[in-house]
Amino acid sequence: MNRTFSIIKPDATKRNITGSINQLIEKNDLRIIAQKRIKMSIEQAQQFYSVHNDKPFFGDLVDYMTSEPVIVQVLSGEDAVKKYRKVMGATNPDNAEEGTIRKLFALNIQENSVHGSDSDENAKSEIQFFFNENEIVG
Ligand code: CMP
Repeated sequence: MNRTFSIIKPDATKRNITGSINQLIEKNDLRIIAQKRIKMSIEQAQQFYSVHNDKPFFGDLVDYMTSEPVIVQVLSGEDAVKKYRKVMGATNPDNAEEGTIRKLFALNIQENSVHGSDSDENAKSEIQFFFNENEIVG
């Protein structure tokens, strides 16, 4: 078993579809072992997405991620990083496979409903960014 980090993004909390997304996560054998609803600060969003700070979409991304509450989550499962990326589907919903979260719910490439870590190393640092170990109950 290993862990990945997930965010249910503002477009999804705004549309009140967090339960439908969690249902897909659980149906795909990922276990939600930590979860909290927060409003990200501008500083948190800038730091969390600092790898993208030279991209043209960075400013819009920070505005969007701080526009409404998000749900930050720790997911556990076999091959969790890879599995969750498959469950999410491609970043751009136009390219996402049928049945994936983004195909079903994302509005566009930015308002794409969920974030998931892209490696075990990033999962560890992203989890630590939002959670203390004693908040994670596997
Ligand atoms: P995420 O997987 O969280 O990683 C970076 C985020 O930037 C991405 O999802 C989208 O929400 C957002 N984004 C906006 N425009 C783009 C783009 N052109 N390419 C990739 N990500 C984008």
